[in-house]
Amino acid sequence: MKKFLIAGNWKMNKTRAEAVQFAEELKAKNLANAKDVCVLAPFTALADLGCALEGSGIGFGAQNVHFKESGAYTGEVSVPMLKDLGVDYCVIGHSERREYFAETDETVNLKLKALLEAGITPILCVGESLEVREEGTAQTFVAGQVVADFEGIGPADAAKIVIAYEPIWAIGTGKTATPEQAEEMCAFIRGVISGIYDMATGDSMLILYGGSMKPSNAKELLEKPDINGGLIGGASLKADDFAAIAEAAASLQ
Ligand code: 13P
Repeated sequence: MKKFLIAGNWKMNKTRAEAVQFAEELKAKNLANAKDVCVLAPFTALADLGCALEGSGIGFGAQNVHFKESGAYTGEVSVPMLKDLGVDYCVIGHSERREYFAETDETVNLKLKALLEAGITPILCVGESLEVREEGTAQTFVAGQVVADFEGIGPADAAKIVIAYEPIWAIGTGKTATPEQAEEMCAFIRGVISGIYDMATGDSMLILYGGSMKPSNAKELLEKPDINGGLIGGASLKADDFAAIAEAAASLQ
């Protein structure tokens, strides 16, 4: 049976009360695949969200973390702090963080290692800009990100990482990659992982697609063989839409 993960990235949205309300609405859907679903919230909502989702099977997580355990890093949140909240997942290297907050493959790699050591599942984002796609070098670019981000990570840990392919030109633009474009890159990424490690690691890796995924296009993307789910931004803010995407995945199992 194909494995799926349907992950909602709220980005900088939702107060604590809004997060709890969403959790209540989502739980009321009684999703058949609750264990394959997670919500990635702002730090401020994580404690309340975790309590609201407790016992539902639905996972939750953060959208960033610092790689140092503690210290003089004003404004940052550490892995032990996330661990203390009981988070299951943490997004790393989202293109918005790479673009606006100077995230580099080097810091992404350090963050991956810190999360893996703590037993929190990283959701690593990779993806090319429109400029790179138009130049025809998207695969080379994405392979470069994957190789640099996995540097020094052993096969047992690598297998625990979830990769999200998010072409920057499809994020928040309503311009979804076609299922064929998304499948082509997800299959390519799987091949890169198989090349670094081995076929078994590549085959078992969860590779998600992200970029304007919504209820109306989710099924055609999710039914592609190398797409194991979605990292969903805008359409994850409403429980109805997010649940519809989760149900599209469940219908394919
Ligand atoms: P949208 O679904 O709003 O395009 O955002 C995708 C994304 O960036 C998820 O991390």
